[in-house]
Amino acid sequence: MSADFQNWAIQCQAGIETFLDARLPPTDRVPIRLHQAMRYAVLGGGKRVRPLLSFAAGELADADTRRVTVVAAAVELIHAYSLVHDDLPCMDDDILRRGKPTCHIEFDEATALLTGDSLQTLAFELLAENQLADSADTQLAMIAQLTLASGSRGMAGGQAFDLDSVGKTLTLPELEFMHIHKTGALIRAAVMLGARCSDRLNKIQLNQLDHFSKCIGLAFQVVDDVLDTEATTATLGKTAGKDAENNKPTYVSILGISQARDLAKKLQHDADQALADFGESACRLRQVTEFIIKRKF
Ligand code: IPE
Ligand code: IPE
Ligand code: MG
Ligand code: MG
Ligand code: MG
Repeated sequence: MSADFQNWAIQCQAGIETFLDARLPPTDRVPIRLHQAMRYAVLGGGKRVRPLLSFAAGELADADTRRVTVVAAAVELIHAYSLVHDDLPCMDDDILRRGKPTCHIEFDEATALLTGDSLQTLAFELLAENQLADSADTQLAMIAQLTLASGSRGMAGGQAFDLDSVGKTLTLPELEFMHIHKTGALIRAAVMLGARCSDRLNKIQLNQLDHFSKCIGLAFQVVDDVLDTEATTATLGKTAGKDAENNKPTYVSILGISQARDLAKKLQHDADQALADFGESACRLRQVTEFIIKRKF
């Protein structure tokens, strides 16, 4: 990773942290324990890949940074909520997340459930109370896009498919379906909402960007599957080897490590191709893509 990219990423991460810190309810406000848990689940951890994608897409479209910060924060809140619920005993039953005890271990299951609920609604509160686009119609369409990406036809639906797949061998199309929903949908929303904060891009360009976002959304979960087998708990900040332990079908269980890695590289190539017409203006998106593929955690 170039120093230029690293500096840019650090700046984006700091910007999103400051914004989220200011918008999450303070811990001296009742219900204190719930507010503590919300802040615990969101602040001070995570790679912030989805916000990085929103910022990179926002730069491509020359969008107002304040608007992009709002959509980036909203997507990150949905993501953080999905992790809190993903770790619950009724789902993946994990005790470690972002290098700390999971929310239900640090607090309790009921609080973790309510934390997820509250982070989700806070995300939509942010989108409803800030101006994101010049026209109200576009803003409503953007809010609808995040609802779709989060719900039963997006992330939550993918999670349902994931739970239903335990102990089964999926076909490749089934596995792809699961991954593009549970992980790809929010990544796609992160890219598209960042770009839609400006009306600079035309329909063809938005379609190219959408194709890009689908490729990297799938690639992200393919790499997550690989890291679950290859990396250590210390590096990941979450329990390694959990997929095999929980009997989950993954790209590694179905294709093996080497083919799964090849698929991630192929998806990176497809993603790059989708950006071809943008030339240099898509440089940040290419850098975030490279980070997604080459990351070690
Ligand atoms: C982990 O996402 C869950 C998946 C969707 C694979 P990340 O790897 O982005 O987790 P954080 O935000 O960096 O902790
Ligand atoms: C999680 O997939 C996807 C969502 C949280 C929506 P995983 O279950 O593979 O994520 P990790 O590995 O626990 O982070
Ligand atoms: Mg899971
Ligand atoms: Mg999990
Ligand atoms: Mg995983």
